[in-house]
Amino acid sequence: MPVSKSTGKAKSIKKPDVKVPIPPKQKRLVSGIKPTGQLTLGNYIGALKQFVKLQDEMENTELFIFIADLHAITTPIDRQELKKNIRSIAAIYLACGLNPEKVNLFIQSEVNEHAVLGYIMESTAYIGEMERMTQYKDKKQKQTEGIRTSLMTYPALMAADILMYDADIVPIGDDQKQHLELTRNLATRFNNLYGDTFVVPEGFFPETGARIMSLSDPTKKMDKSNENHKSYILLLDDLASVRNKIKSAVTDSDALIKYDVKKKPGISNLLTIYSSLTNEPVKEIEQKYKDKSYAVFKADLAEIVADALRPIQQRYFEYINNPKLDEILNQGAERARLIASRKIEKVFKRLGMGRVK
Ligand code: TYM
Repeated sequence: MPVSKSTGKAKSIKKPDVKVPIPPKQKRLVSGIKPTGQLTLGNYIGALKQFVKLQDEMENTELFIFIADLHAITTPIDRQELKKNIRSIAAIYLACGLNPEKVNLFIQSEVNEHAVLGYIMESTAYIGEMERMTQYKDKKQKQTEGIRTSLMTYPALMAADILMYDADIVPIGDDQKQHLELTRNLATRFNNLYGDTFVVPEGFFPETGARIMSLSDPTKKMDKSNENHKSYILLLDDLASVRNKIKSAVTDSDALIKYDVKKKPGISNLLTIYSSLTNEPVKEIEQKYKDKSYAVFKADLAEIVADALRPIQQRYFEYINNPKLDEILNQGAERARLIASRKIEKVFKRLGMGRVK
């Protein structure tokens, strides 16, 4: 501190009259994909493409994107297949354009705190809430015996995945809407019971393409677990079969290229795919194909889908056997563990658990 020459006392320093701007609070974005199979065009349009868009558009936001492998054991899965899927999804994330400089990319099971907070969320949720989840009801119907408890409690783990990082925004497809709503309820309930602990997150849904439908039955969601391989397009399908699948997609017989989900679900789904991949509004696409046949429209769409997948497939093969992929996953897990361990400490403190003061 400076000293006055005349009095020998410490002089107070006059603060400069400059306002230092307070940096805006960093936002967090969280999302994940379950490695139960290969990824589909639905996953790409509903989720992956949105992650990349938000990564590039949102300023001052840290992204946590993970491979939700704990979610993959809610139904039986072969260990080799699971291993393969985990690595494959990691490579696909990068191939689709996620930038490890901006995104913490990690494997959920490598951050132990997810399971811990998952249990705490189970202890916040009510059984009735879990039983009401439509995805659980659908999946339960398909299985007659050996339904695992985690199939029902899984939304509590998903809530934990999101609340762990104080996510402000969660980009997901339509089918995850109910789980996000539950997450918001659990966060609010916990905060009311134990004091402010979690950020109540907002869902982010794509304007077009939040629910890409099956190509063989356009009233059902495009889903990798469908037995009919022609009903979905995998991101790693060879391009000849991609074109074939689009060309043989179910449409109606009136040959009018018009968006009408109720009366013309097949062509509406194809228009949605077209619009999502080209960013052209559906109305303009309808206009462009006003006097054209379904065959012409499908042939053009087949090329659009092939063009979208080609670079992803090329980059995928650059990553899949590259040790750089492990470095990126290690780095992501390290950052995630740091945030997660602090959060668990806070949660334990709120609950009065262990010896945390
Ligand atoms: P999952 O693995 O089933 O799907 C991953 C993402 O892809 C979206 N999606 C679709 N979007 C449009 N059309 C479709 N046909 C389609 N099929 C899938 C899903 O909506 C999802 O966004 N529970 C989640 C994984 C998860 C998660 C999380 C997501 C676990 N923890 C935390 C967000 C935040 C799941 O099973 O997604």
